[in-house]
Amino acid sequence: MFSRVVFIIATLAGMAASATVNVVNNCSASIDPAFFPAASGGLGGFTLAPGDSHSVTLPAGYNGNAWGRTGCDDSGSCETGSCSGGINCTAPATDGATLAQFQIDIIANLDFFSPKTDDGFNIAINMAPIGCPTAPVACTDASGDGDGCDVMSTCPTGTDYTLTFC
Ligand SMILES: *[C@@H]1O[C@H](CO)[C@@H](O)[C@H](O)[C@H]1NC(C)=O
Ligand SMILES: *[C@@H]1O[C@H](CO)[C@@H](O)[C@H](O)[C@H]1NC(C)=O
Repeated sequence: MFSRVVFIIATLAGMAASATVNVVNNCSASIDPAFFPAASGGLGGFTLAPGDSHSVTLPAGYNGNAWGRTGCDDSGSCETGSCSGGINCTAPATDGATLAQFQIDIIANLDFFSPKTDDGFNIAINMAPIGCPTAPVACTDASGDGDGCDVMSTCPTGTDYTLTFC
């Protein structure tokens, strides 16, 4: 019954909207951002030099997490945030990374997003919606400090995001 209601809402809404996420490395060292499940095109992760950014697309219906891996070697073996699959992560982080949860166009024309320390904390995460009145949210330490840390925020479907590590 619930899935039928979701289906009808999605049908009435007419357009399923993906989200573009601009991933920014604000850390002083290289990181390997990871997405599980993978972003569009099967992209599970990549290497980002300090100060660099890279845009990924999350399809409508995406429900998963991004996180930053630190201290990675060329094979994608990392000091924090490690996952199997090498640079192109194919599984959740095993050692308690800070997470950026994204639920894109999941119900009623809304996206939901939250920086989270539920599993642990490795580096700070800031999630900033673009063109939506919701303020940026962040987790800045292991105690869950930061505006909107461990709280679910929402924006209309079709919103894009900037995801900043450190
Ligand atoms: C980037 O890093 C600087 C210096 O640590 C910090 O002040 C700033 O808030 C960071 N930017 C974001 C978007 O988190
Ligand atoms: C990761 O997967 C993407 C999408 O399939 C691909 O374009 C990229 O080359 C892969 N990267 C590595 C390091 O294998």
